[in-house]
Amino acid sequence: MTQDELKTLVGQAALQYVQPGSIVGVGTGSTVNKFIDALGTMAGQIKGAVSSSIVSTERLQALGITVFDATAVDELAVYIDGADEIDHAGYMIKGGGAALTREKIVAAQARQFVCIADESKLVTALGAFPLPVEVIPMAAKRIARQFAALGGVAALRLKSGVPLVTDNGQHILDVTGLKIVDPLAFESTVNNWPGVVCVGVFAFQKASVCLLATGAGVKTLTF
Ligand code: 5RP
Repeated sequence: MTQDELKTLVGQAALQYVQPGSIVGVGTGSTVNKFIDALGTMAGQIKGAVSSSIVSTERLQALGITVFDATAVDELAVYIDGADEIDHAGYMIKGGGAALTREKIVAAQARQFVCIADESKLVTALGAFPLPVEVIPMAAKRIARQFAALGGVAALRLKSGVPLVTDNGQHILDVTGLKIVDPLAFESTVNNWPGVVCVGVFAFQKASVCLLATGAGVKTLTF
């Protein structure tokens, strides 16, 4: 099976977590796009969605799904999103699609985080994937130096040769060379650095379930 087929498989499998009549939290990325396409078949059966990015909002609306502002909804039963890496405890690296801040916000509103991923995303330790960190531009250079003190190398993410601007009007640093042995402690530390908007370690908002697409079908990991 190709990676694209695995993403389709797991995107469809996630429908089992969507309760009719509910508002569902929706992440961002190519795997989530498969979930959104599958959710389109349930458009008439759900109340709507809270979305983690402009791109997901547009895809949901194109399928006739109502998108609610996060502030209009107190609690979500479920948030469904992909990951760049997920470990055996449900801790993740996210933000490859630059939507990490809103992803973490919507995840925090949900009782359950269902991560949908193909098997290439399952790791024993986080950190091989460059860690995305959303930063306020005036702090970017100092934050890069703080990562250097931890052994990391931070690169400003570019799009068409200029700094990528997130949905929140900020920049992204991608950090390589880190060893994230304690995801909770790491997330706390980086969150405390002035100018960090969001670090792409999802430890406090870890997955409760991971639907993992493999060549032998979808496996369910619970944490
Ligand atoms: C976007 C994300 C995505 O969930 C993550 O990058 C995985 O994306 P994909 O499903 O395309 O591999 O965090 O900010």
